[in-house]
Amino acid sequence: MKKYNILALPGDGIGPEIVNEALRVLGKVAARFDAEFTVNAALVGGASIDQSGMPLMPEVLAAAIDADAVLLGAVGGPKWEAMDYSIRPERALLALRKELGLFVNLRPAKVYGPLIDSSTLKREVIEGVDIMVLRELTGGIYFGEPRGVETLPDGTERGINTYVYTTPEIERIARAAFEVAMKRGKRLTSIDKANVLEATELWRKVVIEVGKDYPEVELSHMYVDNCAMQLVRNPGQFDVLVTGNMFGDIISDEAAMLTGSIGMLPSASLSAGNKHAMYEPIHGSAPDIAGQGIANPLATILSVAMMLRYSFNMEDAAVWLESAVDDVLDKGYRTPDIFTEGMRKVNCTEMGDAVLAELEALVS
Ligand code: IPM
Ligand code: MG
Repeated sequence: MKKYNILALPGDGIGPEIVNEALRVLGKVAARFDAEFTVNAALVGGASIDQSGMPLMPEVLAAAIDADAVLLGAVGGPKWEAMDYSIRPERALLALRKELGLFVNLRPAKVYGPLIDSSTLKREVIEGVDIMVLRELTGGIYFGEPRGVETLPDGTERGINTYVYTTPEIERIARAAFEVAMKRGKRLTSIDKANVLEATELWRKVVIEVGKDYPEVELSHMYVDNCAMQLVRNPGQFDVLVTGNMFGDIISDEAAMLTGSIGMLPSASLSAGNKHAMYEPIHGSAPDIAGQGIANPLATILSVAMMLRYSFNMEDAAVWLESAVDDVLDKGYRTPDIFTEGMRKVNCTEMGDAVLAELEALVS
């Protein structure tokens, strides 16, 4: 029997509610696929700050390094927003990414047929959209030095962040992107700002170099401003996108919104050889609806599917979960974030129940 250790980090806001539903679904997978998942839970983000003053305790980081995979809910909220940057909830995420070496961030943006009318964009623009965004996650301006805010002799202040990438950092994310493109539509668009930023001129050069090993993949380049525009103008043109940390942060939110609800999209963050991995919904902690039990657990459930696929090599189980999610949407189950007239409005637990019922229906 396959045995895996999973560290669950529910975090803040709606995090605990959605992770709870995802873990119920994982239990179902264990029963059907003869796998044993040992799940340990720990505090992260604001929840950890409230208990110990720090967003990520050393023992939690150690447990994350030790685990076969981490399932994270969400971190942050207004309660902790006034705190110093160095101890904000978000630091926990950045530290986990960095310490686990999770440089590949996969953010799929797929439009679900039944949800097409919940998008703010026209049906004909988004029909069939299926984009995979690869965001570099452990470098770039998020981590570049020097950084900080200093006071100048005249009393004014100067804020600094540094956009920096080295050849090896670009090579490894580019390679990951070409590999993903090979398994999809074999079209890769690299996003940069090479007309202004030297660091991204290097990015483009290195991506082209790596591309020589993948002659089957059609590589194109796009400036980030144009990409932002093309994503709302004609998103169907894209298959795989690869970009640096900050552009990827922005572009992936935009791509997510094409699909109608950010509540639907999972993500995977992987290290070299998938040795370490963290899976999380791409939405945040949604403090406005936290504790009401109405959050959409589907992005977290789909993150579990990604975990099964990328960390545990359980493709059949991943497809099983994804099919169940398709089916509950087809049957009209909707949490409030994706609700439209005539559908069946359900809360977080009821949505989890619907997925569990569908999983059973799919095997019988
Ligand atoms: C994301 C989030 C994070 C990021 C924040 C919460 C630090 O926006 O995962 O996209 O900027 O990377
Ligand atoms: Mg973001």
